[in-house]
Amino acid sequence: MLSEKEKAQRAAIHDMFAGIANRYDLLNHTLSLNIDKRWRRRVSAILKDILADPDAEILDIACGTGDLAIELASKGNAAVTGTDFCRPMLEIAAKKLPKVALVEADAMALPFPDNTFDAVTIAFGLRNLPNFANGLREMHRILRPGGRLVILEFSKTWLPGFGAMFNFYFSHILPRIGGAVSRSRSAYEYLPDSVSKFPDQQALAALVGQCGFSDVNYVDLTGGIAAVHTGTKA
Ligand SMILES: C[S@@+](CC[C@H](N)C(=O)[O-])C[C@H]1O[C@@H](n2cnc3c(N)ncnc32)[C@H](O)[C@@H]1O
Repeated sequence: MLSEKEKAQRAAIHDMFAGIANRYDLLNHTLSLNIDKRWRRRVSAILKDILADPDAEILDIACGTGDLAIELASKGNAAVTGTDFCRPMLEIAAKKLPKVALVEADAMALPFPDNTFDAVTIAFGLRNLPNFANGLREMHRILRPGGRLVILEFSKTWLPGFGAMFNFYFSHILPRIGGAVSRSRSAYEYLPDSVSKFPDQQALAALVGQCGFSDVNYVDLTGGIAAVHTGTKA
């Protein structure tokens, strides 16, 4: 059950993504200089063994316009399903992903039975959920025992010099460009703001463990601008 505050937050996030859906892909790739594509390839590399299994089922949560689901579907034989609560984002995904099943659903209450999926992925989605721990518990619920969780998310950069430069770009330049192109300055101010409030690498690893996952690990990407966290349902 979501609190009233969490419900309001969820509605605001939904409307924000609905408002920028048409410009999302263009801005994603431009503002990240296409590095986001390399980051998504790390997720498929981590799941290589599961992707090779034609009987495996993978759910990409908060799939948005589908870029991670495309990457996963293109790298193996597993059945990939994408889910997101924002229909305008899913409509763009549907045009790009004729072979991937798409389900409109809230990540906080997924319409799948317990113990369904061999792997669950979420890229740049966890940070947007109204309650990170409850979202992670929902992912744990739908994974089969032995199933794997892979989270790709912005994190805390630690490289001296580069970190400061990146933070300046992320907090001051990106919101201006993103705001001008999407005509939603607030969406691109929300991005650095939400990253600053999101747990850093170690805190997120601890939270994933507290939500029932074992073998929790993470790897930094591009000096910690992003990180991939992994865990297993025992
Ligand atoms: C930054 S986008 C990431 C999209 C995609 N995974 C990618 O890598 O480009 C975040 C996505 O999370 C979705 N989202 C946010 N909160 C959600 C929720 N409670 N349930 C389902 N989807 C949610 C948004 O609709 C949006 O498509």
